[in-house]
Amino acid sequence: MSYQNILSETENGITTITINRPSKLNALNRETIQELHDAFEEAEDSSKTKVVIITGSGEKAFVAGADISEFADFSVEEGGKLAAKGQELLFDFVANFSKPVIAAVNGFALGGGLELAMAAHFRIASDNAKMGLPEVSLGVIPGYGGTQRLPQLVGKGRAMEMIMTAGMIDANQALQYGLVNHVTTPEELIEFTGKIAGKIMRNSSVAIASAIRAINANFEDGENGFEVEIEQFGNCFGTEDFKEGTQAFLEKRKADFPGK
Ligand code: COA
Repeated sequence: MSYQNILSETENGITTITINRPSKLNALNRETIQELHDAFEEAEDSSKTKVVIITGSGEKAFVAGADISEFADFSVEEGGKLAAKGQELLFDFVANFSKPVIAAVNGFALGGGLELAMAAHFRIASDNAKMGLPEVSLGVIPGYGGTQRLPQLVGKGRAMEMIMTAGMIDANQALQYGLVNHVTTPEELIEFTGKIAGKIMRNSSVAIASAIRAINANFEDGENGFEVEIEQFGNCFGTEDFKEGTQAFLEKRKADFPGK
C-alpha cells in the first residue's frame, strides 16, 4: 500500500512505521491517523511482521501532537467525535495490537504524540526527546487516552502535575518516571530498538499475543485480569508453539516456533 504521510517498511521481521510530515513536526492530522491505522492493519495481517517499531521522521520530532489546525473551529459534538474516532482507529488499536509495538521516541512527543507512544507496548527514547501533554495550555484536555494511560505509566500524582502544568519532561526524567524503558543517543535509537525487537522475536509470537491480552486486561474496566490470564494460560497448552517450546527445552535445543 502507498501512503502520503507515513512510511512503512519490513525487514527481518520488523515493520518500521515512520510518521513522515517533518515540516509539521509529524503532527497527526486525520489522514495520517487513517494511514497509520491502515499500516497497522497491514502489519497485523502480514506473516512477515513479528514486531512493529513506530517512530517519527527527521531529527526533531516523534510527533508534536494532533494537528491543531484541523480542530481549532470544532464544536462540542465534533470534538467528542474526534477523540472517539482517533481512539478507535489508532490508539486503542495499537494498545491492543497482537504483535509487540515499540515506540522509538526520537524527539518531541507531545499531546497526541505522547499518547501514541503510550499506546505502544513500551517506549525507548533518544536523549534529545521531550515529552508532555500540553493540551490544557490550548484550553482542551488530552483526548487520545492520555488522561488514562499517563497515570497508569507514571502514577497519578506525576500525571496530574504533567497534565496541569502542560510542561515537558526530558528523556532522563521520563526514564526515572518509568515512562520510557531505555534512553540512547539519537544515532543509536533505531538499532538499539531493533536489538530489543530481536530478543522478542526469539520467543513464541502466539504466547506473546496471549501475554499482551492478559497484561492489557489489568487496565480494562470490567475485565478481571487474573481470569483473563488463566484463560490465556490454558489456551497456550493447545498451541503448536507450546509443544515446540517445551519439546525443545527437554531435548536441550533452541526452539523453532511455528507461530501457531
Ligand atoms: N499541529 C499543527 N502544526 C504543528 C503542530 C501541531 N501540533 N506542532 C508543530 N506544528 C507545525 C508548526 O505550526 C510549524 O508549521 P509552519 O512552519 O507551517 O508554521 C512547524 O510544525 C514547525 O513548528 P514550530 O512551532 O515552528 O517549531 P518550534 O521548534 O519553534 O517549536 C514545538 C516546537 C513542538 C515546541 C511547537 O511546535 C509546539 O508547541 N507545537 C504544538 C505542541 C502541542 O501543543 N501539541 C498538542 C496538540 S493537542
